[in-house]
Amino acid sequence: MKQWVFFMVFILIMGISGLVFSREDQERLDPSAFETPRRPGAVFSHDGHNEKAGLSDNCALCHHVYENKQLVEGESSEDKTCSDCHGLKSGPENGIPLVRAFHARCRECHFDSGKGPVLCGQCHMKE
Ligand code: HEC
Ligand code: HEC
Ligand code: HEC
Ligand code: HEC
Repeated sequence: MKQWVFFMVFILIMGISGLVFSREDQERLDPSAFETPRRPGAVFSHDGHNEKAGLSDNCALCHHVYENKQLVEGESSEDKTCSDCHGLKSGPENGIPLVRAFHARCRECHFDSGKGPVLCGQCHMKE
């Protein structure tokens, strides 16, 4: 009986520390463009995620290029950050503020496909 209790406590501790470590290991997006971010940076393992989601040949889905508000097909802006073009507020050249750009791109695909996280804490996981 006593051994069982020790065994269960051992398993519990291993489980909890495993969780803590895997959270620290998560790759995250840098939220510093938001000046005073209110949430921890969203978890996003760029290459691994895009491979699993079948996006390796579709860089421009996220790294798109626009001219006069028209999407330029087949061109990619992977040398730029989203915040290079999307301001904190919508402006005349870009009507999609940064936070909406991220949520629209990331969360909507998860909603629509029924795969990937949709709850705040699943992306903005505690550090
Ligand atoms: C699919 C993933 C995902 C989900 C779900 C999600 N977010 Fe985000 N959110 C992001 C990404 C990506 C950014 C931009 C990079 C960053 O700040 O981590 C962002 C940025 C933000 C920002 C601006 C930065 C900051 O910290 O102030 C806020 C506020 C925010 N999200 C709140 C929320 C809230 C509230 C929810 C739930 C209703 C939510 N998010 C759900 C991915 C997500
Ligand atoms: C699901 C959306 C998505 C897809 C698809 C995607 N990326 Fe990204 N990528 C991002 C985000 C988000 C960042 C971080 C940008 C930021 O912080 O504003 C990033 C950053 C990068 C960076 C680093 C830029 C920097 O200055 O740090 C490179 C390079 C890059 N991506 C290349 C690619 C290539 C090549 C592909 C296609 C094989 C690709 N990406 C597909 C979302 C994506
Ligand atoms: C080279 C400039 C540029 C970069 C870099 C850029 N965007 Fe955009 N994006 C635009 C412009 C311009 C629009 C159209 C805005 C409008 O209609 O007012 C747009 C529209 C959008 C839209 C709405 C249309 C759609 O495709 O659903 C989303 C979502 C979006 N961007 C997300 C992102 C994300 C996420 C990143 C970074 C991975 C990013 N953008 C990087 C310029 C850019
Ligand atoms: C075109 C669809 C699509 C877009 C755009 C997309 N995702 Fe995903 N995401 C998925 C799918 C599909 C999965 C499930 C992958 C699996 O586990 O098979 C996923 C899984 C995830 C996961 C769970 C861990 C993992 O990597 O599997 C996180 C976190 C995540 N996405 C964050 C993001 C963020 C942040 C963005 C925007 C920068 C984003 N996603 C954009 C389709 C998408």
